[in-house]
Amino acid sequence: MKNIAVLASGRGTNLQAIIENVENGTLHANLACVISDNENAKALERARKHNIKAIYLDPGPKKTWLIPEVEQNYVKTLQDHNVDLVCLAGFMRILKKPLLDAFAGRIINIHPALLPSFPGLNVQKKALDWGVKFSGCTVHFVDDTVDGGPIIVQAAVPVLDDDTPEKLAERILKEEWRIYTEAINLVLSGKYKIDGRRVIKTDDR
Ligand code: GRF
Repeated sequence: MKNIAVLASGRGTNLQAIIENVENGTLHANLACVISDNENAKALERARKHNIKAIYLDPGPKKTWLIPEVEQNYVKTLQDHNVDLVCLAGFMRILKKPLLDAFAGRIINIHPALLPSFPGLNVQKKALDWGVKFSGCTVHFVDDTVDGGPIIVQAAVPVLDDDTPEKLAERILKEEWRIYTEAINLVLSGKYKIDGRRVIKTDDR
């Protein structure tokens, strides 16, 4: 069984789905640890409740990224737990070289929009304001661009006339919980190849 780690800054509903899917056997991985840059993250509480190692790592002086020495500490913690795949789930910092180099091709993220539309923050409101009729979520590999790495899985949901950002976010979240597990299983299985920007499933029959 391969080891995954979840990095989360906040409430952790994606983490919760991952925990439950590991426990019920639909996610074929060992959740080695949950790491947060926020001491008070509900995600840490959720992990502890399920006897999963929950680690707060001081994020250092910057708000949206980690200075190299601090990021190196994240790398060390992940390596100490023999992590094969790093899963970002509402981790509110942009990753830089130390992590991207140490875990090249082994970091994935979930984003609540159909990339490449609406990268960044508050994207449910952006989708609504733009007037799109469908939005959704995307699991993608993380590279040195913001929300720009190769797409692994997406799911679409309709945008309804009486939607608010909150209602749309809720509809998208339900799909997030489902496709994150699907994407993690695929990446851990190794049964894919990356052709340009395309992540293509391979068959071992
Ligand atoms: C999710 O919408 C995820 O797509 C985005 O941040 C949010 C995290 O929610 N990256 P939660 O903490 O998993 O509930």
